[in-house]
Amino acid sequence: MHILITGAAGFIGQLLAKELLNDPTYRLTLTDINQPPIPTGVQYPQNATAVKADLLTGAKDIVDSSLDAVYAFHGIMSSGSEANFDLGMSVNIDATRNLLEALRHTCPGVRVIYSSSQAVYGQPLPEIVTDSVIPTPESSYGAEKLVCETLVNEYTRRKFITGFTLRFPTISVRPGAPTAAASSFLSGMIREPLDGKKCIIPIEDRQFKSWLCSPKTLVQNLLITLRLPADSVPLHIRQINVPGICVTVQGMMDALEKVGGKDALALLAEKEDPAVIPILKSWPTQFDNTQAISLGFKRDESFEQTVRDYKKGLE
Ligand SMILES: NC(=O)c1ccc[n+]([C@@H]2O[C@H](COP(=O)([O-])OP(=O)(O)OC[C@H]3O[C@@H](n4cnc5c(N)ncnc54)[C@H](O)[C@@H]3O)[C@@H](O)[C@H]2O)c1
Repeated sequence: MHILITGAAGFIGQLLAKELLNDPTYRLTLTDINQPPIPTGVQYPQNATAVKADLLTGAKDIVDSSLDAVYAFHGIMSSGSEANFDLGMSVNIDATRNLLEALRHTCPGVRVIYSSSQAVYGQPLPEIVTDSVIPTPESSYGAEKLVCETLVNEYTRRKFITGFTLRFPTISVRPGAPTAAASSFLSGMIREPLDGKKCIIPIEDRQFKSWLCSPKTLVQNLLITLRLPADSVPLHIRQINVPGICVTVQGMMDALEKVGGKDALALLAEKEDPAVIPILKSWPTQFDNTQAISLGFKRDESFEQTVRDYKKGLE
């Protein structure tokens, strides 16, 4: 299979590329506005080509008729889109539309797996969000994702592509540096202390709940979507809420202490950040994932297991 990954220099693009390049049946084109690295330590690095391109202007140049599937991961994250409205609109919407147009004309019917987010939802929300809850985003990022979900539905209904929209929970624990996402601390509060560094939690309510998924489980679900029968969701409703688990800040601190010890826990501090709190509080904290589970999607065992896996990865 020839697979295109956009935003491939980013966290999830690299994670998925690493998985696919350990299987000889995949040929990858990795593209990003920053030169995407070919992951190291993989069995078949020769099966990947890296292309530096701005999707806003160069979507046509990176698409060719041999593509079997596309993972669309490019984007400007939540705090980034809130801070720079024009950049968020152009990358999150205009570049995605450009990509869909290029695919429609160059490889009609191609499978497109679009990365949306739980941020399409806003208040008021029921305690448990089901698939029938209407998304009412309270951030530019969430609004931009919702526009693209509609595009994916419409391009699929018109049979221009075979689209699937995955609404990701917050992915934690994410390695590397803090990001321009309001949820950045949900990885930072585990990652930094396990690296001997301090982390400030921007919300002082320890009962604050988040909806999380580990990188390992996300990759499994991304691969499952590659083989989902095209008709497993209606032609005009392509969204799937990817399974997550509900964890409180206190629950995350407990997991950190169990895996990293009291010294790691002592590196956490709590200080309210008024810029981040309204975005955090607008997001859902629990979903009914019946649809996704019935399609074969996986769910994490526990957050403690996620932290253990992350620590093992460091070793
Ligand atoms: N990580 C999460 O917790 C999470 C949660 C929900 C949804 N998502 C979505 O999943 C996708 C991937 O997330 P991630 O964590 O890997 O993000 P990331 O920020 O690590 O990667 C996004 C990539 O998009 C690239 N990009 C930006 N502008 C571009 C342009 N004009 N042309 C081409 N590439 C451009 C960036 O250079 C970056 O490498 C994103 O669309 C994100 O909204 C992520």
